[in-house]
Amino acid sequence: MALPKDSLKSDFPIFNDSDLVYLDNASTTQKPKQVLDAVMAMYTDSNANVHRAIYDIGSKATEKFENSRKNISDFINATSEKEIIFTSGTTESINLLAHTLDNSLGPGDDILVSEMEHHANLVPWQMASERTGASLKFIPINSRGELDLSDPEKYFTRSTKIIALTHVSNVLGTINPINDIAGIAKEIGALFIVDGAQGIPHQSIDVQDLGCDFYAFSGHKMLGPTGIGSLWGKMELLEEMDPFMGGGEMIENVSMLSSTWNEVPYKFEAGTPNFVQAVGLSAAIDYLNDIGMTNITKHESELTSYALEKMSQIEGLRVFGSPKNRAGVISFNIDGIHAHDLAQFLNEDNIAIRVGHHCAQPLLSSLKENSVARLSIYIYNDKSDIDMFCTSLSTIKGYF
Ligand SMILES: Cc1ncc(COP(=O)(O)O)c(C=O)c1O
Repeated sequence: MALPKDSLKSDFPIFNDSDLVYLDNASTTQKPKQVLDAVMAMYTDSNANVHRAIYDIGSKATEKFENSRKNISDFINATSEKEIIFTSGTTESINLLAHTLDNSLGPGDDILVSEMEHHANLVPWQMASERTGASLKFIPINSRGELDLSDPEKYFTRSTKIIALTHVSNVLGTINPINDIAGIAKEIGALFIVDGAQGIPHQSIDVQDLGCDFYAFSGHKMLGPTGIGSLWGKMELLEEMDPFMGGGEMIENVSMLSSTWNEVPYKFEAGTPNFVQAVGLSAAIDYLNDIGMTNITKHESELTSYALEKMSQIEGLRVFGSPKNRAGVISFNIDGIHAHDLAQFLNEDNIAIRVGHHCAQPLLSSLKENSVARLSIYIYNDKSDIDMFCTSLSTIKGYF
């Protein structure tokens, strides 16, 4: 067993006295008591605006907020905590980049994404392409649901200025070869942005080792509160970039007609930040560190193999994608049963999964599906969750 104790569920109040089987972790994760306590403590003993107040609780709040930045920086091995920009999550992080990098784009330039992107890493680039005249290009996927890199010269060219790819597909579970693509990006002089929403919650991340230029992620998918996430970027790039939003704290000096900018990262953090949530995210990171990211990856990988094996015994069940390097996200349909009916029946057994297009409509189109069912695993799931899920699926099959 990869985890330090039999079940982590007792740390998560939502599972207390409940038979909830929660398998919608790619959407959002449950919160351990340690995170809830950290958030509550901020509101009860350190609630004052950060970077402004000179009274005691203000200093305390600022210190906790900045310590959280340092904790995130250490967690991903950034070269400095100043490379950590607090955002509301992956979506805001990618929008920040699409808006601030667009002044280097124009007709004749390419933005390269893939067919498996979440809308959060597609729509902002469609908008940037409209604004700038740059073309949006796509890396296709092969029959296993992996990036098709068999003909790299076709996609990676000297016109490619930005490559923006997901680390892990939120539909197929595919783990993309970030290191390899970082090497190609360097060769052709493109900026490489990684959507880490489904990566960082499940595996140890070392941004220096990954070799990308930016890594975006959401706190709520890694046990943290909603409304907080980060954008990591290389300092020399962040320094060159214009701010995203204007407002308080992102300035150095303001006159009636113009302003100068604060230093990185504050230049990108206009207005009151979600400082309470940032401290909650830091508590989530402490929790993950206590368990150990290697143990988490191993646990999820064992559970994913177990789930795939059990699901393969259900007649008519089709799993989408069979990537060699995969995470604990499994999308499937059962012949003759609509995905929405499946989710509704599972809910009667208090089993939570997600169905729909999973904010990846182009991918669903290439799978020729309108809606797929998806289970996604996290650290508190265990074999009994998978057993209950599969038993429930078999019962549902009996009805149809
Ligand atoms: C791969 C991927 N990217 C981006 C997002 C957007 O994350 P958020 O809604 O937290 O900004 C998600 C959310 O499911 C995702 O799975």
